[in-house]
Amino acid sequence: MTSNDWPIYRGGSDANNYSPLTQVNKDNVKDLQEAWTFYPGDETENFRFWKYECNPIVIGEVMYITSAWRRLYAINASNGEKIWEFDPLEGARGGGVLRGVTYWAGDGEQRIFVAANNKLFSVDAKTGQIDSLFGDRGRIDLNIDEGGNRDIMVRISTPGIIYKDLIILGGAVSESSGAAPGHVRAYNVRTGALVWTFHTIPWPGEEGYETWPQNAYQNSGGANNWAGMSLDEKRAIVYVPTGSPTYDYYGADRIGSNLFGNCIIALNAATGALIWYYQTVHHDIWDYDLPAAPNLITVEKDGKKIDALAQPSKMGFIYVLNRETGEPIFPIEEKPVPASKIPGEQSWPTQPFPSAPKSFARQSMTVDDLAEFSAESFETNKKILNGLWHEGIFTPPDTPGTLLFPGSRGGAEWGGAAGDVATGMLYINSNESPELGRISRVRKNQNTANETLFGAGQKFYLTYCASCHGADRKGIEANPSLLDLNKRLKQSEILDKLKIGSAIMPSFAGLIKGKEDQILAFLTETGKDVPVGLIDGIEDTSTTYLNITAHGYFLDTLGQPAIKPPWGTLNAIDLNTGDFLWKIPLGNDPELQKPGDPPTGIENYGGPVVTAGGLVFIAATLDSMFRAFDKDTGKLLWEIKLPGNGLATPSLYMINGRQYIVIAVSIGENLNHVKSAVVAFALPDG
Ligand code: HEC
Repeated sequence: MTSNDWPIYRGGSDANNYSPLTQVNKDNVKDLQEAWTFYPGDETENFRFWKYECNPIVIGEVMYITSAWRRLYAINASNGEKIWEFDPLEGARGGGVLRGVTYWAGDGEQRIFVAANNKLFSVDAKTGQIDSLFGDRGRIDLNIDEGGNRDIMVRISTPGIIYKDLIILGGAVSESSGAAPGHVRAYNVRTGALVWTFHTIPWPGEEGYETWPQNAYQNSGGANNWAGMSLDEKRAIVYVPTGSPTYDYYGADRIGSNLFGNCIIALNAATGALIWYYQTVHHDIWDYDLPAAPNLITVEKDGKKIDALAQPSKMGFIYVLNRETGEPIFPIEEKPVPASKIPGEQSWPTQPFPSAPKSFARQSMTVDDLAEFSAESFETNKKILNGLWHEGIFTPPDTPGTLLFPGSRGGAEWGGAAGDVATGMLYINSNESPELGRISRVRKNQNTANETLFGAGQKFYLTYCASCHGADRKGIEANPSLLDLNKRLKQSEILDKLKIGSAIMPSFAGLIKGKEDQILAFLTETGKDVPVGLIDGIEDTSTTYLNITAHGYFLDTLGQPAIKPPWGTLNAIDLNTGDFLWKIPLGNDPELQKPGDPPTGIENYGGPVVTAGGLVFIAATLDSMFRAFDKDTGKLLWEIKLPGNGLATPSLYMINGRQYIVIAVSIGENLNHVKSAVVAFALPDG
């Protein structure tokens, strides 16, 4: 590995999205042109997906990517020609996003680790052949809960990180009841043997156990690391950002501060022992998962250099902490926040508020902030807004409805921030789109004919399906309604869907085995549907179940966020002082931009990269543009239209004296894409 490579997801184990390359600079970036495009072309006809989020890695002259269809490819990084491919899905399909792969080299061997559904595969980096000495014939099963006895379902969305001969993994789990606990696990890269486990939901005797109900370690889920980790190799510390415990918006069944949910956890990378932790949200009921690995970056404060980390959040805060001790570099104050009104819920009375840097996303919204593109829409949204509870970012979800802002997609996303290791400057994009949250109780369907099967099927459904399809089966956003399923699909077709998966829906092949009758009894039941006994103070959980509606955009009639622009921003923050260097709207909708107004900014996913050449590269916006900005001023220096949306983080590398910038592209309409590509740019040859 050399500084010409991009050997690790996000550029390095410091998660800085940083490139030391200087060939492309402020003067010549305008001359960048397409060098090659790689189309995996492996998509099948009915395949649709939301986002292709891969951040390619490059070692020497070879690039390793996964396609949106989630095959693994080695391609020649200077011309985009395929070298080999590997299909880890073993006939299964779907399974959600995968943001890239992990490379390891040692003992003259090189491996690529790639995840699919609940498995991690080890593949020879030279040949694309599976390493049969790893785990069980080349794979390990992440659903095995070694030392525990729970049925867990774990998959990987962000690649693991290497420390010596360990691959350290978190995992994505369901976000509703029955979710797996978010163990952090380290496996031997050669044998696949489990070397250590850190329980993010502590077991008896472990630190933090008392911050949950007694049996939480056997029942509760989440507090998982889905967003990747960073590693201080010299200190042998791995930094693990975690998400909220499940349910996302309801915690009456997990009273307590819920360590190590929503924490930055510093672990001994060799042993998994806890070194320190910092909790950013106590008893999270907002889905404020820490969405990306923290940037490891050195700052200068009061004339002293401090090795720090900067953890971006969905709330718009950046937690800047001493990397060795976890001490805040800028004071963080615990302040009182509103109390939940949901029966049984005990929201935490205070939450931490960093004094600096100031939030890079707007955190509150009044009628004055409502967009006014259409007078009619403004009036409607004014009524809606006035009916919502909103006292800042920690307003608990409620039955009449709560405004969640910046919301679950807001502030930082999984692309994370770019950290300029030379200057201590942090570059981060933000989404600003308010959401609506609502909690109610729904009466259970009765199906007297087949009550037992039905009940078992329902339990399975609430555990594995409700987070996407809704507890009431009416669908959530792009996840379709499953009501009246028997009018559309034969029983065998339903089972096929479950075995194979589809789009972001994982394959449930292993889990449904032997339970087919139960699941079908529930899914195809015609019942007297359903709504709605709102929570009335008496929680009768035997005849009701929880219905949580959240992740819902608060839009106007044009389909735009109900708030005034900018809807997306790019921010440059000086971590030495906590001050903003600049802040600009990211992306523009020319049809909605009013004369004389700044660009509107656009919803965006995927991170920036900062370079020693003085540039910040970022695509991310849902307008198919790829842009480069002057890192000192935020001035736009280059933009080009991609063949689709670049909803990913670019990678930068150099081969034979030529610098390349690549980005994964999702082709299709909006968040309904059908095809993936990787596009490389370089200065004209010679
Ligand atoms: C991560 C989100 C997610 C989860 C979890 C999930 N699904 Fe889906 N499901 C989807 C999406 C998205 C589609 C639409 C796929 C497409 O358009 O190809 C879908 C489609 C389906 C369909 C086909 C619907 C139709 O009308 O064609 C069925 C049936 C289904 N899901 C059942 C289930 C069941 C049962 C579970 C739990 C075992 C489940 N899903 C879990 C996201 C999910």
